[in-house]
Amino acid sequence: MAASLSRYLVEQQRARNHIPPELRLLLEVVARACKRISHAVNKGALGGVLGSAHSENVQGEVQKKLDIIANEVLIEANEWGGYLAAMASEEMDSIYVVPNRYPKGEYLLLFDPLDGSSNIDVNVSIGTIFSVLKKPEHSQKVSEADFLQPGHAQVAAGYCVYGPQTTLVLTVGDGVAIFTLDREQGSFVLTQENVRIPEDTREFAINMSNMRHWDKPVANYIAECLAGREGPRGKDFNMRWIASMVADVHRLLTRGGVFLYPWDKREPEKPGKLRLMYEANPMSWLIEQAGGMATDGRERILDIQPTQLHQRVSVCLGSKNEVARVTAMHQAA
Ligand code: AHG
Ligand code: MN
Ligand code: MN
Repeated sequence: MAASLSRYLVEQQRARNHIPPELRLLLEVVARACKRISHAVNKGALGGVLGSAHSENVQGEVQKKLDIIANEVLIEANEWGGYLAAMASEEMDSIYVVPNRYPKGEYLLLFDPLDGSSNIDVNVSIGTIFSVLKKPEHSQKVSEADFLQPGHAQVAAGYCVYGPQTTLVLTVGDGVAIFTLDREQGSFVLTQENVRIPEDTREFAINMSNMRHWDKPVANYIAECLAGREGPRGKDFNMRWIASMVADVHRLLTRGGVFLYPWDKREPEKPGKLRLMYEANPMSWLIEQAGGMATDGRERILDIQPTQLHQRVSVCLGSKNEVARVTAMHQAA
C-alpha cells in the first residue's frame, strides 16, 4: 500500500531523524487545514465561497471570499495545537500571536492562504503556500523581528495546489515529496519522492503583457527564447502563464521550466510583485531541493535577509541552467 503523509513524516522523524515530533505534528495540522480549504474550493458556487469580500489587505489588494476563508481555516487549525508561537499571512497586516489560552510552541508559520486569487472564480488551479521557521532561542516574547530570517533558515516549506487533483508538495530539507489527496480515504498519499527538475528546458513562464516595463536583461533573455531555433539558443521555446504561482511552480517541478516575475517599471520603488517570506522563500527552497535554482536575478533568494514581513522580491526560479543564464545576464548588465 502506498505510504501516507503521516507515515512519510513519521519516517522523517524516526528513521531519518530529520524532524522533531512537534514539527511533524505541526505539518499534519497544516495538511489537515489544506484538506478543508480543498473541500471549500471544490464546492465553489454551491458553498457560497466565490466572489469578492469587498475588503483590502495590507498590500492594497482586494480580498476574495476564499482568501479570507482560507486564512481563517489555517489560523483555527493551527492556533491550539501547542506547536506554534505565532503565525503570519499575506492576508494579515501584522503577526498573529497564539492566544494566551493555548500552549505556545517553538515554531513560526507563514502562509499565503490562497495563491492565485484571480483564478478562484474562473475555476483554474489555485493553492496554499507555507513556510515554517524556528523561533530564535533568545526571544522571550514573540515579535515580528523573530520572523525576519533568511529563507535558508526554513525548517519546512510546501504548497498545496487545488487543481484537477489536490496535491501537497513538501520539503523538510530531505528532497521534495509529492502527496495526492485521496478523497475517499481522506488522506494525502505519497505519489512521488525525490522530485528532480530537469536542468534544461524549452518552456518559460512570464506575464508577457508587462514586456514594455521590463528591465534590459529580462527583455534580452525572453527575446532570445522567442527567437527560437534561428536565434542564439538554437531551439524553440514554449510559453505558459497560469497566474497562480503554485500551479506554475508545480508544472516546473513536474517537467522543468523557468518562472519569472521580475521587477518592472510599473511600480519601480517595489522590488517585484511576489512576496519574499511566504511566496518566494518556500518556493525557492522546494526548487533548490529538487535540483533547481532560484535567484532575484542577481543573488540567491534564500540568502536575502528580510527587513519586512510583507517585503516583495523579484523572482527567477526553475531549471538550473536557465536560471543561471538569466542571473548571468543580470550580473553582466
Ligand atoms: P495572490 O493571489 O496570492 O496575490 O498571488 C498571485 C500572484 C502569483 O500567484 C502569480 O504568479 C501572480 O500573482 C500573477 O500575477 P499577474 O496577474 O500580474 O500575472
Ligand atoms: Mn500568492
Ligand atoms: Mn494569496
